[in-house]
Amino acid sequence: MLDEINEIQSDLAQLIRLALAEQTEDVRLFVARLVRKYRNTDPELAEQMDLYLRAKAPRSSTPLRKAAAQPVLPTQTLPVDDESRLSLLKVFKDEPSREQPLLSLDLEETLSQLIQERRQTERLASMGLSPTRSAIFVGPPGVGKTLTARWLASQLGVPLYVLDLTAVMSSLLGRSGSNLRAALDFSKRDPCVLLLDEIDAIAKRRSDDADIGELKRLVTVILQEVDEWPATGLLLAATNHAELIDPALWRRFDLVINFKAPAMPAVKQAIKRFLGQDYALFGRWIDILAFVFNGESFSDIERDLQRFRRAVALSTASDADLIEEFVKSRALVLERQGRIDLAVLLAKQTRLSQHTISDITGVSRDTIRKYTSEQPPIAKKPSKRKPDA
Ligand SMILES: Nc1ncnc2c1ncn2[C@@H]1O[C@H](COP(=O)(O)OP(=O)(O)O)[C@@H](O)[C@H]1O
Ligand SMILES: [Mg+2]
Repeated sequence: MLDEINEIQSDLAQLIRLALAEQTEDVRLFVARLVRKYRNTDPELAEQMDLYLRAKAPRSSTPLRKAAAQPVLPTQTLPVDDESRLSLLKVFKDEPSREQPLLSLDLEETLSQLIQERRQTERLASMGLSPTRSAIFVGPPGVGKTLTARWLASQLGVPLYVLDLTAVMSSLLGRSGSNLRAALDFSKRDPCVLLLDEIDAIAKRRSDDADIGELKRLVTVILQEVDEWPATGLLLAATNHAELIDPALWRRFDLVINFKAPAMPAVKQAIKRFLGQDYALFGRWIDILAFVFNGESFSDIERDLQRFRRAVALSTASDADLIEEFVKSRALVLERQGRIDLAVLLAKQTRLSQHTISDITGVSRDTIRKYTSEQPPIAKKPSKRKPDA
C-alpha cells in the first residue's frame, strides 16, 4: 500500500516536472507509459488517461501509434478551465457489450423504457412526442448512479460526458458560470449523454461560502440549460443528497430515478459478480457474506471482496481465515438478535466449532446450542449438531 503511494507520488512528480518544462511530447510518452502501467491495477484511471491522450492531437510528426490508429475525438477539443487547466468534462466511450450494472427490477424497466424511447424517436415523433430529455438519479453513494449513466450511454451508442462540478467551482470567482456554459455548449453539439455528477456539490457550498451570488448564478445557468437541453442528447444528474437540491431544479427534470442500497437477492448477485472466478473458492460462504453485507452499498461490497481476492491470490491468508476475521469484525456492530442469527447461520453452514462461533459472534455456546437445537437444520441428517468432519 505504502509502496503503491510512493510509486504514484514519484509518477506524479515526474509528470509535473515534464509538464512544467513544457516537454509536451515527453509528457505524452510518459502518460502513454502510465496507461500501460495502470491498465491492470487501475483500469479506469488508465482508460481515462488514454482518452485524454487521444483527445489532444499530437503536435509532432511521430504520433503515438495508438493515437494515430484510432482518433477518438478528432474534431473538437474538450473545454478546459482557463485557470486550473483541469478538464471540465470526463469522457467515456464504452462498447455496447459493457456489462449491465446490477439493478432492481423496476429500475431496469425504467431504464429500458428510456433506451427504447431513444431507439424509436421517429415513432415517437410521428405521434408528436419527444423522448425523455432529462433524468435525475437519487440515492446513497456507491449504488451505481455514475456506473448506470455510463452503461446507458454505451447502450445508446453515444459518448458519456461527465461534468466535474468540483472543477467548475474551483475556477475563479465569476468564471464558473461561463465554464459551465462552455462545457454544456460543447455537449450539446453532438448526441451524447451528459452527466452532471454530484450536483449537490453546488448546494453544499452554498451554506458555507461567501460568494453566494456566484453560486446562485451557477444554479441559474443549470436551470436554464436543463430547460433548453435538446432532445438529441440525454441530460442526467446524480446526487447523494436529495434534500440539498433546489426545488426549482428538481421540478425541471423529466424523470426522477431512485437508486437504493441492494436488497438481499441483489447482495448475493453482487457477491457472485464481484468474486468473479474466485466464486469457486468463496462460494460456500455466500449466505454468511450476504448476511454481513446486508444493507451495504455495492461499492463497499466490491471493495471488501477485492481485498479478499488479493489476499488469497498472494496466499497471505486462507479464505476461511479471511472470512472468520471479517465476520468477527462485523458481528461487533450487530444487535444481540443479529449476532444470534449470525451464530445460527455459522453453525448451520460451516464446520466451525461452537467454541469458534462463540468467539466470532460473542454469543455464548449455551445460547448457540439452544437455538440450533430448537431449529434443527433442514438437511437430510437429523443430527442436532453439525458433524465436525
Ligand atoms: N448497481 C451496481 N452494479 C454493479 N456494480 C456496482 C453497482 N453500483 C456500484 N457498483 C460498483 O461500485 C462502484 C462505484 O459505483 P458508482 O456508480 O460510482 O456509485 P454512485 O455513483 O452511486 O456513488 C462502481 O464502479 C462499481 O464497481
Ligand atoms: Mg457517483
